[in-house]
Amino acid sequence: MNIVSEVLKGFYVIKYLCKNSFSKQELVRVPEPNTITTSEEDVREYSKVMNTNMSSIYAMLLNVAKQVKGDKQIDHCLDLCSGPGRLTVFLHQQLHMKKTTGVDLSDRMIDIANSHAEEVNEQDNVTFCKSNIMDLKDFENDSFDLVTFADGAHHLDTIKDVRRVLEEAQRVCRPDGAIVLLDPIRQKTKSLTELYLKVSGKDYLDQGLNHFYEQFRDSMYAAWTTSELKESIPENSDNRWFHIVPNGLKLFQLVIGVPREQAELLTHAPISASEIKKIIPEKYHMDYMFLNLSFKGAKVIEISK
Ligand SMILES: C[S@@+](CC[C@H](N)C(=O)[O-])C[C@H]1O[C@@H](n2cnc3c(N)ncnc32)[C@H](O)[C@@H]1O
Repeated sequence: MNIVSEVLKGFYVIKYLCKNSFSKQELVRVPEPNTITTSEEDVREYSKVMNTNMSSIYAMLLNVAKQVKGDKQIDHCLDLCSGPGRLTVFLHQQLHMKKTTGVDLSDRMIDIANSHAEEVNEQDNVTFCKSNIMDLKDFENDSFDLVTFADGAHHLDTIKDVRRVLEEAQRVCRPDGAIVLLDPIRQKTKSLTELYLKVSGKDYLDQGLNHFYEQFRDSMYAAWTTSELKESIPENSDNRWFHIVPNGLKLFQLVIGVPREQAELLTHAPISASEIKKIIPEKYHMDYMFLNLSFKGAKVIEISK
């Protein structure tokens, strides 16, 4: 661990917290220039995502999914907008699922995701196919125990489209299953966005992942605010819907749908810090610690309509 860079990161975190608490939401959304990720460089660089600080965000998603689903066996998971499939395989293995299907609209992403599943010998259990997440017509009602949707909501044009996806997710998810959406939070101002890009994006630039950095930058400007995203949940839903908005570092938000009869959202123990340390590269342990602190103080708000 490079102490100087970690101290500097700590300094930027404090700067972010101060600026954020005195800012009002004024940043206007800029939709994703490339909703479907097709360029060769973008796909190649995105597939290195587990070696970047995004791995700490994936670990956070895993942690939340674990608290929602506990030790209950997940027979079949559907991962929407699976991209290069790194997160799909990561969740599949860490949550000991039996079968996982990832869907994306980019042929290049699907190819690289299928070859990754093969590399780790999961090709019989984790498969990727082409499908539009707004119309999951290839999938029957009630066929999955878990539907994940990470880093995809900001790729859609409107909140109505995100709602359409959640309606489809709800249709294909079993009545006792769960739906977990994770997406960045659009920052209040350009200067907060640039501050975050400066700290987080340095990791990508240092590794020569310039295209990945650009995708990350686009996503921060295309992200939904917390008040926008909470409008995306289906109406008259059979699920209970919750919104998790971190305290402190407001970088990522979660929208989670669980069965009506589930009294609480996070019913199981979180993953221990020592376990997390085993599954993400050491240089991102500090990033995870900052994220974890923010999510520990998170507001879990029921947003069912
Ligand atoms: C930022 S990547 C997310 C990848 C992965 N979930 C992750 O978190 O690492 C977003 C992906 O969504 C895909 N995508 C965008 N709109 C889509 C749609 N309507 N249907 C299916 N995939 C879509 C893009 O092609 C891209 O691969």
